[in-house]
Amino acid sequence: MTVTIVGAQLGDEGKGGIVDVFGESADVVARYQGGDNAGHTVVHGGETYKLSLVPSGAVRGKIGVLGNGCVVNPHTLFEELDGLHEQGLDPDVRVAERAHVIMPYHRILDNLEEDVRSDDDLKVGTTGRGIGPTYEDKVGRRGVRIGDLLDPAVLRDRLEYVIPQKRALIEDVYGIDLASVDLEFDGFSAEDALDVDAVYDRYVEYGERLRDEDMTVVAGEFLTSRIDDGEQVMLEGAQGTLLDIDHGNFPYVTSSNPTAGYAATGSGLGVTTIGDGEVVGVVKGYLSRVGTGPMPTELGPSDGGHGVDAGDEAAATGDDPSAEDLASYIREEGGEYGTVTGRPRRVGWLDLPMVRHAARASGFTGFAVNHVDVLAGLDEVKVGESYDLDGETIETIPSTTERWAQCEPNFQTFDGWPEVDWAAVAEEGYEALPENARTYLEYVAEEVDTDLYAVGLGPERDHTVVLDHPFE
Ligand code: IMP
Repeated sequence: MTVTIVGAQLGDEGKGGIVDVFGESADVVARYQGGDNAGHTVVHGGETYKLSLVPSGAVRGKIGVLGNGCVVNPHTLFEELDGLHEQGLDPDVRVAERAHVIMPYHRILDNLEEDVRSDDDLKVGTTGRGIGPTYEDKVGRRGVRIGDLLDPAVLRDRLEYVIPQKRALIEDVYGIDLASVDLEFDGFSAEDALDVDAVYDRYVEYGERLRDEDMTVVAGEFLTSRIDDGEQVMLEGAQGTLLDIDHGNFPYVTSSNPTAGYAATGSGLGVTTIGDGEVVGVVKGYLSRVGTGPMPTELGPSDGGHGVDAGDEAAATGDDPSAEDLASYIREEGGEYGTVTGRPRRVGWLDLPMVRHAARASGFTGFAVNHVDVLAGLDEVKVGESYDLDGETIETIPSTTERWAQCEPNFQTFDGWPEVDWAAVAEEGYEALPENARTYLEYVAEEVDTDLYAVGLGPERDHTVVLDHPFE
């Protein structure tokens, strides 16, 4: 069977931890979209593994697959694999021959286009990894796929077709002199990134390594045969529902579909196979956002507060904490800084209209709530229950970003819960959670109309309480 894990918010819900816990029963962990814009942190045996491309299950000895719906930067892939080898692991990672390749010119374009958009106040705040330009080339039928790296003649043809177009875009449309672009990615200067020979030479080498290490697969065939053999497959979504190109808040989105429908398209497994399995949404007990876009339940700015020390516990838990104090406190307690970019994340209360939208778009069969420990010690915990928009109360998010920005949240307020020994609680089980935390969790499950499968109480695997295991 399959279990698909989907972020229900804006990414950074702690999906890696849930994949880690439920993935214990899986034989294969596959990603179906995104690239090295995703940051997962897996803590295992006291070691911290920070990954942005390799599926997190690979740290646990599972076969990791990057499906055809992913965009793959081979530089990142090999850097992460080499790093894991240095940490004493021997990960088995396969890459779909149909996956598209992030080329150095995609990274240059991603960064130049963000600058161009910022002149019109349309900056998305991308991770700068070349994700959008690579998916554009896939849909524009001018991309380079992993399979093309294995055939130097095809690679050369593709590059000779596409690179002059990219050069013209930069020089003639954006009016930028490449020689003046002071950007360097993955060892390519801007000039080299737009030079057929320089790109060809390096990418042929990547192709050789992929072939030598026998890493490429036809993902759909590979995964289907595993399932036919009775193995368990976990599909690991990256980013979150509100960053989905279709179901997110366009245009402040990534260029792929984190929602569960794409688990089929992006892995090559049939929709009926995915639908016969479970789809687990992952929610953080509050909300964070990297990058631009509305956030109705936002608490204060992302710069650490106005004259308040970031993480000042007394200020945040005192009689009347300001929104900025609370945001700073949660940001520091939750380590809310981008894994890929290091940017401080914006912080807000849990937003139920968003989670209801996510549950519907992916058809969650269950969900997990993470970081319940981070909220401990606050006097009150709020949850955005609904929005007011144009004099009406609505329970889900509007389809346009502009209307979403006009929504005023209505909050439910819960009594806070104390800091306790979370490892001991996790060991004892759900009933050992502080009563107020359980009241909050049960309210959320009822509002989202989905069964609670797990509660995350810390970064280690044994800090998660499992109520229902989707593979069992
Ligand atoms: P891109 O995916 O780099 O094109 O970035 C598009 C938007 O998605 C930006 O707002 C990013 O901050 C956001 N984003 C992309 N990946 C992640 C992630 O893994 N976590 C949170 N936000 C992300």
